[in-house]
Amino acid sequence: MKLELDADQLDGFRCDGFVVVEGVLSTAETDAMRARAIELATTVDLEAEGSATIFSATDQSHAQDEYFLSSGDVIRYFFEDGAFVDGELDRPVELALNKIGHALHTLDPVFAPISNDPQIYSAASALGLAEPDPLQSMYIFKQPGIGGEVGSHTDHTFLWTEPRSAIGLWFAIDDATEENGCLRALPGGHRIPVKSRFRRLPDDRSTTMEVFDPTPYPTEGEVPLEVAAGTMIVLDSALPHRSLPNTSPKPRHAYTLHLIDKTADYPADNWLRR
Ligand code: FE2
Repeated sequence: MKLELDADQLDGFRCDGFVVVEGVLSTAETDAMRARAIELATTVDLEAEGSATIFSATDQSHAQDEYFLSSGDVIRYFFEDGAFVDGELDRPVELALNKIGHALHTLDPVFAPISNDPQIYSAASALGLAEPDPLQSMYIFKQPGIGGEVGSHTDHTFLWTEPRSAIGLWFAIDDATEENGCLRALPGGHRIPVKSRFRRLPDDRSTTMEVFDPTPYPTEGEVPLEVAAGTMIVLDSALPHRSLPNTSPKPRHAYTLHLIDKTADYPADNWLRR
């Protein structure tokens, strides 16, 4: 990893709400991360794990909720909706997963050292976090043909702190292009007040999206962030961003790491528990 943010990049982040940093991960690192994600997908017993069953039936939303809500401090496997036909996976598991999350950064021997590289903490400090605290990690597959759309959202909605503090680090494992569903973001959109908050309900077993402003985030003026493998994109937690479906025959793997500031309050009704 080679990560050092210069003054122009830090200015760009403050002005646009995101910054693209090229050449952060080496090919050896992206190759190792891809290989590890595929190894996890193909060696874990997903039947024993329960996830294959949970995700094969669309009416099992409660079981899916529980599987998701207890995934903050473990490694779990989430499928694409389009990967099941009549309750059966219709393709190899490594081509059926939507993502693996949410504690690769603490538990996995390949992802943890990269996620806890001192350069990550230095960059997070430079980006304004007093005490950078890696909170959540995901390996996102964005599979060829079935990789679904991720609608416009802000990460603060899902990783709420008071005051707002999260930053997202998005690492391209494959080249990301418009064809395979690259990130799209609205420059300066981080100045729009965050419109919703996803949180646990008092029963602690279900969640709600609390909406402060029902109007959608604007997409006019957004830019596609086409980047080469190894690039890191930093996202302000108030920046609206999204990605379109991957209808191409090419994968679009990415690794994301979200950090919060330990000096900020992390309310207990956040979905993610550690
Ligand atoms: Fe996001």
